[in-house]
Amino acid sequence: MYTGIYHSHKLAVILFLLIYTIKLILLFVNTEKLDNFSKKIKVPDMIISFLFLATGIYLATQSAEISTILLVKFGLVLASIPLAIIGFKKHKKSLAIVSVLLIFTVYGLSEMNRGMKAKKVTISNDIITNPSDANYDELSHGKVMFLSQCAMCHGPSGDQGLSGAKNLLTSTMKLEEVMNIITKGKNSMPKYSKSLSENEIKVITAYVMTLRE
Ligand code: HEC
Repeated sequence: MYTGIYHSHKLAVILFLLIYTIKLILLFVNTEKLDNFSKKIKVPDMIISFLFLATGIYLATQSAEISTILLVKFGLVLASIPLAIIGFKKHKKSLAIVSVLLIFTVYGLSEMNRGMKAKKVTISNDIITNPSDANYDELSHGKVMFLSQCAMCHGPSGDQGLSGAKNLLTSTMKLEEVMNIITKGKNSMPKYSKSLSENEIKVITAYVMTLRE
């Protein structure tokens, strides 16, 4: 279900961008053609816009966390729609350009976000994650968890600071505070209370504390 909707969303987005781009070009080349094109494409345009928004909202409700980037994307889309309607209808070039730029910004943000997620480090299979195993090592487990869960923002060494993430090498947070921020999240840092077990949060915290300079 999710993948199907995801692909429909992508398709709707591409068609939506295509229609916007064609309209923008026509606005500069020949406004009469623009009006004709807008009239002809009216129904498909409405269906595509609806699909674009509906699938987008569905996908947003499926993500574990309503992130800042998601809210920014929604805000930009909502702002661009009235601008586009007025811009194309009244032949106001500046409004139309702004609306198209907004939509492409949203597209760029999504791609950037995906690129960051794709950089996720994969966990090696030979690491022992069962605390009751005799060879269990808390810090090795913590490190592997850190690389897979936190490194995309904090960097593999904890000092990268992508998406406004704090430098963990110079952090002065106490152990309980670190555990707390991992559990509850803060601003664009996601909360992990649902996705990680208590022990996982504990070992990540222990590992984070060892990163200090
Ligand atoms: C989506 C990006 C992102 C991910 C993933 C992420 N963080 Fe963060 N982290 C942030 C941001 C942004 C802040 C700053 C929050 C603020 O203070 O507004 C932060 C702050 C922190 C802080 C507080 C540092 C300080 O001194 O203020 C700690 C500790 C921390 N993160 C640890 C982790 C750990 C451990 C993980 C993995 C379980 C993790 N983070 C995953 C973005 C992220």
